[in-house]
Amino acid sequence: MRRLDQLLANLGYCSRREARGWIEAGHVTVRGKVADDVGQKVAATDVRVEGEPLDHPEGVLLLVHKPLGLVCSHEEREGPNVYSLLPERWRRRNPVITSIGRLDKETSGLLLLTDQSELVHRLTSPKHKVPKVYRATVDRDLAADLGPLFAAGTLILEGEKAPCAPAALRILGAREAELTLTEGKYHQVRRMFAAAGTTVLTLHRAHFGGLELGDLAPGQWRELALDHFAVDAGPSA
Ligand code: URA
Repeated sequence: MRRLDQLLANLGYCSRREARGWIEAGHVTVRGKVADDVGQKVAATDVRVEGEPLDHPEGVLLLVHKPLGLVCSHEEREGPNVYSLLPERWRRRNPVITSIGRLDKETSGLLLLTDQSELVHRLTSPKHKVPKVYRATVDRDLAADLGPLFAAGTLILEGEKAPCAPAALRILGAREAELTLTEGKYHQVRRMFAAAGTTVLTLHRAHFGGLELGDLAPGQWRELALDHFAVDAGPSA
């Protein structure tokens, strides 16, 4: 149970101050009765705003096809971000909707967004070894020893103390490969190739756990059930 004004503010409808005005204007009902007390403790499922049930009161989990050119940071000075793809009301929610791990501005592909902090921690922890598959094109022919190097689990990136976990490289063409990581160090794919003298030209994440983009166009997203990654919900992560 939460205060009515706080609930509306947390779900991005309005500020707590504005909630008072909404309630006084009769826009909000609780169990079918016009609400008149901003401090009333309510269950989200009992509340209607202009006759409509509340928008995702239990939380959101989204699979986004991140286009190139958007950052995952909320910092406005870092430029346009992936949250600009979402409905405005969702951008005002608290807890905020944030990415589960990050993709660089110049990386496209599968990105998960959620307001469930437990999920962010669980799915980004290297302990859980969620496989993430990246498709890269590079500036020179791929050397034959690259696969064994990445698989060995001994590669130490510049500025790091611990080696990268073993990663599987699948060669797709002379200058194109898929790399599967189970962790997410900063700029990891680009830095792993750079450690072998190879520059990544394009980077796209095709899979996260058992998830793929399907026919989602860049900039589009779809919802996942909040329990998609529940520990007993199957093998996808
Ligand atoms: N590795 C990178 O270098 N960039 C990404 O966006 C993701 C993984």
